[in-house]
Amino acid sequence: MASTSTYLANLPPLPTIPGTEPERCIADSFRTAIAAVVVEALPSLTLEQVYQGVDWGKKGADFTIALPRFRLKEKVDELAKKILEKFTPNEWIEEVTHDKAFLHFKCRTTSLTRLVLSQIHELTHNTASGQPEYGSSDSGKGKKVVIEYSSPNIAKSFHVGHLRSTIIGAFLANLYKACGWDVVSLNYLGDWGTQFGLIAVGFDKYGSEEELEKDAIKHLLDIYIKVNKDAESDPNVKIEAAKFFKRMEDGDESALVNWRKWRELSVKKYEEEYDRLNVHFDHYIGESMVGKEWQDKAIERLDELQLIEDHDGAKLVNLEKWKMARAVLKKKDGTSIYLTRDIGGAIERYDKYKFDKMIYVVSSQQDLHLAQFMKVIELMEFPWANKIEHINYGLVQGMSTRRGTVVFLDQIIKEAASVMHEHMRKNEEKYNAIENPEYVAQEVGISGVKIQDMAAKRINNYVFNWDRMLSFEGDTGPYLQYAHVRLASIERKNPELIPLPQPAAIDTSLLTEPSARDIVFLLASYPDVVKNALKSSEPSTIVTFAFRLAHAISSAWETVVVKGEADVEKARARMWLYVSARDVLGAAMRLLTLRPLDRM
Ligand code: ARG
Repeated sequence: MASTSTYLANLPPLPTIPGTEPERCIADSFRTAIAAVVVEALPSLTLEQVYQGVDWGKKGADFTIALPRFRLKEKVDELAKKILEKFTPNEWIEEVTHDKAFLHFKCRTTSLTRLVLSQIHELTHNTASGQPEYGSSDSGKGKKVVIEYSSPNIAKSFHVGHLRSTIIGAFLANLYKACGWDVVSLNYLGDWGTQFGLIAVGFDKYGSEEELEKDAIKHLLDIYIKVNKDAESDPNVKIEAAKFFKRMEDGDESALVNWRKWRELSVKKYEEEYDRLNVHFDHYIGESMVGKEWQDKAIERLDELQLIEDHDGAKLVNLEKWKMARAVLKKKDGTSIYLTRDIGGAIERYDKYKFDKMIYVVSSQQDLHLAQFMKVIELMEFPWANKIEHINYGLVQGMSTRRGTVVFLDQIIKEAASVMHEHMRKNEEKYNAIENPEYVAQEVGISGVKIQDMAAKRINNYVFNWDRMLSFEGDTGPYLQYAHVRLASIERKNPELIPLPQPAAIDTSLLTEPSARDIVFLLASYPDVVKNALKSSEPSTIVTFAFRLAHAISSAWETVVVKGEADVEKARARMWLYVSARDVLGAAMRLLTLRPLDRM
């Protein structure tokens, strides 16, 4: 912490408030300084109490306190007066103003700028891990979270619900990691169920080993569609399929060989595509792997509670008491179903991981299913029942390519890349300057898809729109990539200024423009933004921050210039500001699973 700690040593000392992390979030120090000011005037309050009441500023202030929240006897005007009387400006806090029920605080700009930029530098370029850490915290240290996301069905189409689960889930995995949690990411494949009986029947008729090797996902879906058509006119197909699936459930090896291969080849193909999306899993598991012993135990327990109904040999659980309808747990022929597998699967995962939290990233269309499954776990009295969380999200309308409806993940990736590629080609000069235009087009295109998906609250529905998401205007993924590229270009365009001197040798007091301060202040808020995202599990929290930062940079760009600034010291200070902004924008983009580009 070299330069930060040297600088801190020259500032008035601050008390330590438990739970704050000034060494990772310098805003904590400024809030502490504010709490100290207030407690000095109002000694009946504790530092912690006041600290909790220091909010990010309203009406252009840095920080704001709403006085009524302390529930003191005196009128707010009186309280404010006391504080203003006691207050003397120092190197932390420059100004306090009173406005009705609020007190607004302004941080000392020189301290703020110096400390924020130093902290970003240290936590980006000088970390023990060698990885950028600005924005991350230890809040989840020692805790384990299991996150399940994507979870497509083998031999069925990859729909937009799966895409959203993939994008949001991968973000959550990054987010929990950034907050110190031990993360286990799972892809729970739909690799079991009667559809495999159908595929088996269909494969005999339509299957080709060659096609399978070429693209298993596509070939299996083709067969699935054909055999479903056959089943419409020939009832025997379904009977055969059910028989076949029963053999699979009974562990008949001859029924399982082909299935195993289909699964393996599909996973291989998926892995390549996830890789392009910068999405990764610790384990590919699936419905097929869930043991059956819990199925009967669940039914036994629910029977004790008189919640089981027998319909012709099929077992149903009646959850109407909780407005969760009835659900089948076991079919007549004894085969398990989706719900039972989720119950058994959760129990097995707890045995294996002893998680502190388990998250299911699944569409809101399955709200009832998830609620039923979680209710059964609760009724079975597992002490960890309250550690399961369903992270849901709304529908997307109109995801299609120019060739038609999307059924595969690779169609989305290819379309995003090709639309972007065409767009880039329109500017020939720029296009020719790019080293690897295919890669850049794919990356920018994917950024467009992801940002469109994460820009609003998860639960909102949205319309999938290629033009809008791939535009460079407005708050889009390409715009964020562009903002990053522009910041990255600053070192290339000013070779005479690099390498920058050590932070301590850069005169940050030369950064006097309000638009520079705005950037600094936003950068200071990033660790809090990450914490808030964790509280709400909303990627939009990070997306909104990234756009605010990109806009603030844009506003400063024309006036706070590096190139053309005659004062070298000033030019250096400004360059450091932009490099720090790039580091933080890059961190936010990576958290959102984007790969920030340096050129495009
Ligand atoms: N494979 C399922 C589907 O496509 C999603 C699985 C969600 N996860 C779960 N544990 N139920 O509908």
